[in-house]
Amino acid sequence: MRIINKKPVLFEKSNHNIWTDPYIQQQILKKHLDFQSDEASRRQESVLKIVNFVLKHSKPKSHLLDLGCGPGLYTSLFADANYIVTGIDFNKSSIEYAKRKRNGINYILNDYINDYPNGKYDTITMIYCDMGTHSDSDRDRLLNNIYHSLTNGGTFIFDVFSERIISDRRENKNWEYAPQGGFWDEKEYLLLSQTFHYPKNKVFAYQHNLLLEGTIKHFIIWERYYSEKEITDILEKVGFRKITIYRDLLGKNNFTSSSEIFIVAEK
Ligand SMILES: C[S@@+](CC[C@H](N)C(=O)[O-])C[C@H]1O[C@@H](n2cnc3c(N)ncnc32)[C@H](O)[C@@H]1O
Repeated sequence: MRIINKKPVLFEKSNHNIWTDPYIQQQILKKHLDFQSDEASRRQESVLKIVNFVLKHSKPKSHLLDLGCGPGLYTSLFADANYIVTGIDFNKSSIEYAKRKRNGINYILNDYINDYPNGKYDTITMIYCDMGTHSDSDRDRLLNNIYHSLTNGGTFIFDVFSERIISDRRENKNWEYAPQGGFWDEKEYLLLSQTFHYPKNKVFAYQHNLLLEGTIKHFIIWERYYSEKEITDILEKVGFRKITIYRDLLGKNNFTSSSEIFIVAEK
Protein backbone atom coordinates (compact mmCIF):
# COMPACT_ATOMS: atom_id res chain seq x y z
CA MET A 1 0.00 0.00 0.00
CA ARG A 2 1.98 2.98 -1.32
CA ILE A 3 1.41 6.35 -2.90
CA ILE A 4 2.77 6.28 -6.46
CA ASN A 5 4.44 9.59 -7.22
CA LYS A 6 6.39 8.98 -10.42
CA LYS A 7 5.63 9.47 -14.09
CA PRO A 8 4.18 6.15 -15.31
CA VAL A 9 5.92 4.14 -17.99
CA LEU A 10 4.05 4.80 -21.24
CA PHE A 11 0.73 2.87 -21.31
CA GLU A 12 1.44 1.18 -17.96
CA LYS A 13 -1.78 -0.34 -16.59
CA SER A 14 -2.95 0.67 -13.10
CA ASN A 15 -4.34 -1.82 -10.58
CA HIS A 16 -7.81 -0.21 -10.79
CA ASN A 17 -9.92 0.94 -13.74
CA ILE A 18 -12.60 3.65 -13.50
CA TRP A 19 -14.85 1.90 -16.04
CA THR A 20 -14.99 -1.42 -14.21
CA ASP A 21 -14.75 -0.36 -10.54
CA PRO A 22 -18.22 -1.34 -9.18
CA TYR A 23 -18.80 1.94 -7.28
CA ILE A 24 -17.27 4.37 -9.81
CA GLN A 25 -19.14 2.84 -12.75
CA GLN A 26 -22.43 3.78 -11.08
CA GLN A 27 -21.21 7.38 -10.70
CA ILE A 28 -20.18 7.37 -14.37
CA LEU A 29 -23.64 6.14 -15.36
CA LYS A 30 -25.17 9.20 -13.63
CA LYS A 31 -22.85 11.44 -15.65
CA HIS A 32 -23.76 9.66 -18.90
CA LEU A 33 -27.40 10.45 -18.16
CA ASP A 34 -26.87 14.18 -17.55
CA PHE A 35 -27.92 15.46 -20.97
CA GLN A 36 -26.69 19.01 -20.33
CA SER A 37 -23.08 18.06 -19.65
CA ASP A 38 -20.17 16.70 -21.69
CA GLU A 39 -18.96 14.40 -18.90
CA ALA A 40 -18.84 10.65 -19.76
CA SER A 41 -21.16 11.22 -22.77
CA ARG A 42 -21.53 14.37 -24.80
CA ARG A 43 -24.57 16.55 -24.15
CA GLN A 44 -27.79 15.71 -26.01
CA GLU A 45 -27.40 18.38 -28.71
CA SER A 46 -24.01 16.88 -29.73
CA VAL A 47 -25.30 13.29 -29.51
CA LEU A 48 -28.00 14.18 -32.06
CA LYS A 49 -25.46 15.83 -34.39
CA ILE A 50 -23.22 12.74 -34.23
CA VAL A 51 -26.15 10.36 -34.85
CA ASN A 52 -27.10 12.34 -37.97
CA PHE A 53 -23.46 12.30 -39.08
CA VAL A 54 -23.31 8.49 -38.70
CA LEU A 55 -26.62 8.03 -40.55
CA LYS A 56 -25.26 10.16 -43.40
CA HIS A 57 -22.04 8.13 -43.67
CA SER A 58 -23.42 4.60 -43.40
CA LYS A 59 -25.60 2.22 -45.36
CA PRO A 60 -29.24 2.79 -44.24
CA LYS A 61 -30.84 0.16 -41.99
CA SER A 62 -27.68 -1.93 -41.97
CA HIS A 63 -25.85 -3.91 -39.27
CA LEU A 64 -24.11 -1.55 -36.86
CA LEU A 65 -21.71 -2.29 -34.00
CA ASP A 66 -21.07 0.40 -31.35
CA LEU A 67 -17.82 -0.15 -29.43
CA GLY A 68 -17.93 1.29 -25.89
CA CYS A 69 -21.67 1.94 -26.20
CA GLY A 70 -22.10 3.06 -22.56
CA PRO A 71 -25.78 3.25 -21.52
CA GLY A 72 -26.95 3.18 -25.15
CA LEU A 73 -27.54 6.86 -25.91
CA TYR A 74 -26.42 6.29 -29.51
CA THR A 75 -27.46 2.65 -30.01
CA SER A 76 -31.10 3.43 -29.17
CA LEU A 77 -31.19 6.24 -31.76
CA PHE A 78 -29.57 4.00 -34.40
CA ALA A 79 -32.21 1.34 -33.63
CA ASP A 80 -34.92 4.02 -33.95
CA ALA A 81 -33.52 4.64 -37.47
CA ASN A 82 -34.08 0.90 -38.18
CA TYR A 83 -30.43 -0.19 -38.01
CA ILE A 84 -29.78 -3.70 -36.64
CA VAL A 85 -27.67 -2.79 -33.65
CA THR A 86 -25.12 -4.47 -31.40
CA GLY A 87 -23.48 -2.56 -28.54
CA ILE A 88 -20.56 -3.71 -26.40
CA ASP A 89 -19.22 -2.22 -23.17
CA PHE A 90 -17.53 -3.56 -20.03
CA ASN A 91 -19.32 -1.15 -17.67
CA LYS A 92 -21.93 -3.47 -16.09
CA SER A 93 -24.08 -0.60 -14.75
CA SER A 94 -24.25 1.01 -18.19
CA ILE A 95 -25.09 -2.21 -20.06
CA GLU A 96 -27.78 -3.13 -17.52
CA TYR A 97 -29.30 0.35 -17.90
CA ALA A 98 -29.15 0.11 -21.73
CA LYS A 99 -30.90 -3.29 -21.69
CA ARG A 100 -33.67 -2.00 -19.43
CA LYS A 101 -34.13 1.14 -21.54
CA ARG A 102 -34.78 -0.42 -24.93
CA ASN A 103 -35.57 -3.84 -26.40
CA GLY A 104 -34.42 -5.02 -29.80
CA ILE A 105 -30.70 -4.24 -29.40
CA ASN A 106 -28.05 -6.90 -28.88
CA TYR A 107 -26.00 -5.76 -25.87
CA ILE A 108 -22.76 -7.50 -24.91
CA LEU A 109 -21.07 -7.02 -21.53
CA ASN A 110 -17.43 -7.56 -22.44
CA ASP A 111 -14.02 -6.09 -23.21
CA TYR A 112 -13.77 -5.27 -26.93
CA ILE A 113 -9.96 -5.32 -26.86
CA ASN A 114 -9.53 -8.82 -25.41
CA ASP A 115 -12.89 -10.32 -26.50
CA TYR A 116 -13.81 -8.63 -29.74
CA PRO A 117 -17.39 -9.58 -30.78
CA ASN A 118 -18.07 -12.09 -33.54
CA GLY A 119 -20.05 -11.23 -36.64
CA LYS A 120 -19.95 -8.95 -39.69
CA TYR A 121 -21.05 -5.32 -39.60
CA ASP A 122 -21.68 -2.65 -42.25
CA THR A 123 -20.95 0.18 -39.84
CA ILE A 124 -18.80 0.27 -36.71
CA THR A 125 -18.81 3.28 -34.40
CA MET A 126 -16.61 4.24 -31.45
CA ILE A 127 -17.65 7.55 -29.97
CA TYR A 128 -16.15 10.05 -27.53
CA CYS A 129 -12.44 9.62 -28.21
CA ASP A 130 -12.32 6.17 -26.64
CA MET A 131 -9.67 5.10 -29.17
CA GLY A 132 -7.24 7.44 -27.39
CA THR A 133 -7.53 5.60 -24.07
CA HIS A 134 -5.77 2.52 -25.46
CA SER A 135 -2.08 1.81 -25.92
CA ASP A 136 -0.74 1.85 -29.48
CA SER A 137 -0.45 -1.97 -29.50
CA ASP A 138 -4.04 -2.48 -28.23
CA ARG A 139 -5.21 0.10 -30.78
CA ASP A 140 -3.56 -1.78 -33.63
CA ARG A 141 -5.04 -5.10 -32.48
CA LEU A 142 -8.47 -3.46 -32.23
CA LEU A 143 -8.20 -1.77 -35.65
CA ASN A 144 -7.34 -5.10 -37.25
CA ASN A 145 -10.38 -6.73 -35.66
CA ILE A 146 -12.57 -3.81 -36.76
CA TYR A 147 -11.29 -4.02 -40.34
CA HIS A 148 -11.88 -7.79 -40.59
CA SER A 149 -15.38 -7.59 -39.08
CA LEU A 150 -16.51 -4.91 -41.58
CA THR A 151 -18.27 -5.93 -44.78
CA ASN A 152 -16.68 -4.67 -48.03
CA GLY A 153 -17.59 -1.00 -48.48
CA GLY A 154 -18.46 -0.79 -44.77
CA THR A 155 -17.42 2.21 -42.67
CA PHE A 156 -15.69 2.71 -39.35
CA ILE A 157 -16.68 6.05 -37.80
CA PHE A 158 -14.88 7.39 -34.72
CA ASP A 159 -13.35 10.46 -33.12
CA VAL A 160 -9.97 11.27 -31.61
CA PHE A 161 -8.40 14.35 -30.06
CA SER A 162 -6.20 16.30 -32.44
CA GLU A 163 -2.92 18.02 -31.55
CA ARG A 164 -4.90 21.14 -30.66
CA ILE A 165 -5.68 19.46 -27.30
CA ILE A 166 -2.25 20.58 -26.07
CA SER A 167 -3.55 24.11 -25.56
CA ASP A 168 -6.20 22.80 -23.09
CA ARG A 169 -3.83 20.67 -20.98
CA ARG A 170 -0.96 21.37 -18.56
CA GLU A 171 1.18 19.02 -16.52
CA ASN A 172 -0.07 19.57 -12.96
CA LYS A 173 -0.80 18.19 -9.48
CA ASN A 174 -4.10 18.45 -7.68
CA TRP A 175 -5.89 17.10 -4.62
CA GLU A 176 -9.47 16.66 -3.46
CA TYR A 177 -10.67 15.82 0.06
CA ALA A 178 -14.18 14.32 0.24
CA PRO A 179 -15.17 13.87 3.93
CA GLN A 180 -18.55 12.33 3.03
CA GLY A 181 -17.36 10.43 -0.06
CA GLY A 182 -18.06 11.47 -3.65
CA PHE A 183 -17.36 10.41 -7.23
CA TRP A 184 -14.43 8.13 -6.34
CA ASP A 185 -15.78 6.30 -3.29
CA GLU A 186 -18.84 6.30 -1.04
CA LYS A 187 -16.69 6.81 2.09
CA GLU A 188 -14.27 9.59 3.11
CA TYR A 189 -11.28 9.89 0.76
CA LEU A 190 -8.33 11.98 -0.27
CA LEU A 191 -7.54 11.99 -4.00
CA LEU A 192 -4.07 12.96 -5.22
CA SER A 193 -4.02 13.59 -8.99
CA GLN A 194 -1.24 14.26 -11.47
CA THR A 195 -1.24 15.05 -15.20
CA PHE A 196 1.80 14.03 -17.26
CA HIS A 197 2.58 14.80 -20.90
CA TYR A 198 4.58 12.59 -23.30
CA PRO A 199 4.89 15.00 -26.24
CA LYS A 200 6.99 12.68 -28.44
CA ASN A 201 4.31 9.97 -28.17
CA LYS A 202 1.36 12.41 -28.26
CA VAL A 203 -0.03 11.14 -24.97
CA PHE A 204 -1.29 12.54 -21.66
CA ALA A 205 -1.57 10.42 -18.49
CA TYR A 206 -3.93 11.22 -15.63
CA GLN A 207 -2.67 9.42 -12.55
CA HIS A 208 -4.80 9.24 -9.39
CA ASN A 209 -3.93 7.91 -5.92
CA LEU A 210 -7.20 7.34 -4.05
CA LEU A 211 -6.47 7.23 -0.32
CA LEU A 212 -9.14 5.37 1.62
CA GLU A 213 -9.11 4.15 5.20
CA GLY A 214 -6.57 1.31 5.23
CA THR A 215 -5.97 1.19 1.46
CA ILE A 216 -4.81 3.12 -1.60
CA LYS A 217 -6.23 2.53 -5.07
CA HIS A 218 -4.21 3.56 -8.09
CA PHE A 219 -5.76 4.66 -11.40
CA ILE A 220 -4.11 5.77 -14.65
CA ILE A 221 -6.21 7.05 -17.57
CA TRP A 222 -4.38 7.42 -20.88
CA GLU A 223 -5.26 9.96 -23.55
CA ARG A 224 -3.56 9.59 -26.93
CA TYR A 225 -4.02 12.39 -29.48
CA TYR A 226 -3.23 12.35 -33.19
CA SER A 227 -2.21 14.51 -36.10
CA GLU A 228 -4.48 14.06 -39.12
CA LYS A 229 -1.61 12.52 -41.07
CA GLU A 230 -0.72 10.03 -38.35
CA ILE A 231 -4.25 8.66 -37.90
CA THR A 232 -4.67 8.48 -41.69
CA ASP A 233 -1.39 6.54 -42.08
CA ILE A 234 -2.37 4.12 -39.28
CA LEU A 235 -5.74 3.39 -40.91
CA GLU A 236 -4.17 2.97 -44.37
CA LYS A 237 -1.68 0.48 -42.95
CA VAL A 238 -4.59 -1.62 -41.60
CA GLY A 239 -6.10 -1.64 -45.12
CA PHE A 240 -8.79 1.07 -45.13
CA ARG A 241 -8.97 2.53 -48.64
CA LYS A 242 -10.81 5.82 -48.20
CA ILE A 243 -10.27 7.98 -45.13
CA THR A 244 -12.01 11.32 -44.62
CA ILE A 245 -11.46 13.68 -41.70
CA TYR A 246 -14.12 16.08 -40.43
CA ARG A 247 -13.26 19.04 -38.19
CA ASP A 248 -15.52 21.28 -36.14
CA LEU A 249 -18.55 18.99 -36.29
CA LEU A 250 -19.56 20.01 -32.77
CA GLY A 251 -19.71 23.22 -30.74
CA LYS A 252 -17.70 23.96 -27.63
CA ASN A 253 -17.26 21.06 -25.18
CA ASN A 254 -17.81 21.98 -21.52
CA PHE A 255 -15.80 19.10 -20.01
CA THR A 256 -12.88 17.70 -22.03
CA SER A 257 -11.73 19.67 -25.06
CA SER A 258 -13.27 20.92 -28.29
CA SER A 259 -10.32 19.70 -30.33
CA GLU A 260 -11.73 16.42 -31.59
CA ILE A 261 -11.75 15.28 -35.21
CA PHE A 262 -14.18 12.74 -36.65
CA ILE A 263 -12.93 10.10 -39.05
CA VAL A 264 -14.85 8.05 -41.57
CA ALA A 265 -12.75 5.11 -42.79
CA GLU A 266 -14.13 2.95 -45.59
CA LYS A 267 -13.11 -0.66 -46.19
C1 LIG B 1 -16.22 8.05 -22.83
S1 LIG B 1 -17.30 6.68 -22.64
C2 LIG B 1 -18.30 6.89 -24.07
C3 LIG B 1 -19.56 6.06 -24.06
C4 LIG B 1 -20.44 6.23 -25.31
N1 LIG B 1 -19.73 5.94 -26.52
C5 LIG B 1 -21.00 7.63 -25.35
O1 LIG B 1 -20.38 8.49 -26.00
O2 LIG B 1 -22.05 7.85 -24.73
C6 LIG B 1 -16.28 5.30 -23.08
C7 LIG B 1 -16.97 3.96 -22.92
O3 LIG B 1 -16.11 2.93 -23.41
C8 LIG B 1 -16.16 1.83 -22.51
N2 LIG B 1 -14.91 1.08 -22.68
C9 LIG B 1 -13.64 1.55 -22.55
N3 LIG B 1 -12.76 0.57 -22.80
C10 LIG B 1 -13.49 -0.55 -23.09
C11 LIG B 1 -13.14 -1.89 -23.43
N4 LIG B 1 -11.88 -2.27 -23.53
N5 LIG B 1 -14.14 -2.76 -23.66
C12 LIG B 1 -15.45 -2.39 -23.55
N6 LIG B 1 -15.84 -1.14 -23.23
C13 LIG B 1 -14.87 -0.22 -23.01
C14 LIG B 1 -16.37 2.46 -21.15
O4 LIG B 1 -16.90 1.55 -20.21
C15 LIG B 1 -17.31 3.60 -21.48
O5 LIG B 1 -18.65 3.21 -21.40
